[in-house]
Parts: sequence; structure tokens; C-alpha cells
Amino acid sequence: MSGRFTRAATRADAASIAAIYNQGMEDRVATFETEPRTPEQILKWFDDGYPVFVSGENQTVHAYAAAFPYRSRPCYDGVREFSVYVAREGRGKGFGKAALGALIGDAKARGWWKLLSRIFPDNTSSRRLCAALGFREVGIYEKHGRLDGKWMDTVIVEKLLT
Ligand SMILES: CC(C)(COP(=O)(O)OP(=O)(O)OC[C@H]1O[C@@H](n2cnc3c(N)ncnc32)[C@H](O)[C@@H]1OP(=O)(O)O)[C@@H](O)C(=O)NCCC(=O)NCCS
Repeated sequence: MSGRFTRAATRADAASIAAIYNQGMEDRVATFETEPRTPEQILKWFDDGYPVFVSGENQTVHAYAAAFPYRSRPCYDGVREFSVYVAREGRGKGFGKAALGALIGDAKARGWWKLLSRIFPDNTSSRRLCAALGFREVGIYEKHGRLDGKWMDTVIVEKLLT
């Protein structure tokens, strides 16, 4: 029996989510951030009512996907930025797809009309995951930020939900 699960995250998942994020951050493949996140920072997502989904196997959370407001202006209420991270040992096994797929379903149910994100061009696994779930690559922001002193481009991806 596989024991795989995908479900809405709870506050009890905050430590796992922080640890998963921090691995992705340390690998320098996914984010401009360089400061580790704490479980307390993740708990704030629940306080703010952001949707968070996790997937894993046999009680171990391997992946999460979450969506955050894109801009504060009311015209962008239905546009959300998502993030998806998988623990190193869980990558390439469908956990990212499961967590992000659940987030997409939830976003549709809430009446949001677009999910978007930015991906480093070399992050093949993230670009493949997004393509597999129907995201379109809109274009490339050149020199969008610096990571460890090096200018990085980002690929913008979006998925219309309506
Ligand atoms: C990017 C990431 C979220 C992908 O999640 P994952 O669980 O490893 O991916 P999955 O196993 O669900 O695969 C989803 C799809 O992407 C493809 N894929 C995943 N990794 C791949 C790789 N390294 N090379 C080619 N294709 C890959 C799979 O074949 C699958 O496609 P399919 O459904 O058409 O067969 C995960 O690798 C990760 O957390 N990486 C570090 C952090 C990160 O980059 N986060 C994204 C920030 S934008």
C-alpha cells in the first residue's frame, strides 16, 4: 500500500513546511531569499487565511504548495502568486504535482482567475511541473534580482483558472 496523501495543510505542518522551504532556498534553485524561514513565519500564512496544501507519504510531508496575494489593489483580488517546494528526498516522485494540483483546484473553487509565479530559467523541474499542469510561459524578466551577487533572470508563468 502506498500511503500517499494530499490534503489541506494545518498549523501542525508549519515546521515541516519551513524545513522544506529552507532546503529549496539552500539549493539556490528557486528563490532570491537567503534567510531561512521559521515555523512562526509559516504560521502567519494560516493566520492570514492563505491556502496551503501538502502531499507526502506515510505521515511524512514531502511537499507543499501555497498561494499569496499578488497585489493589494482590489482589481487583482483573483490573481495569486503560488509557490511549490518539495523536500530533497521527495523530488521527482509526483509530490510537487499533487500539492500544486490541489492548490489549483482550491483556487478555482474560490473563484480566483489566475495563478502565476516566477521561475529561474535553469530550474527545469519547476518549468516541467508547471507545463504539466497547464501553465503558460509568458516571458522572461531580465536581471530581475541578484542571488549571491549574480544577476538572475526569471521566467513568468501563469495559468488562467476560468
Ligand atoms: C520543482 C519541484 C517543485 C517539482 O516538484 P517534483 O515533485 O519534483 O515534480 P513532480 O515529480 O511532481 O513532477 C511533475 C512533472 O515535472 C516533471 N519533472 C519533475 N522533475 C523533473 C526534472 N528534474 N527533469 C525533467 N522533468 C521533471 C515530471 O516528469 C512531471 O511531468 P509529467 O507529469 O508530465 O510526467 C521540486 O523539484 C522542488 O521543490 N525543487 C526545489 C524547489 C523549487 O524549485 N521550487 C519551485 C520554485 S519556482
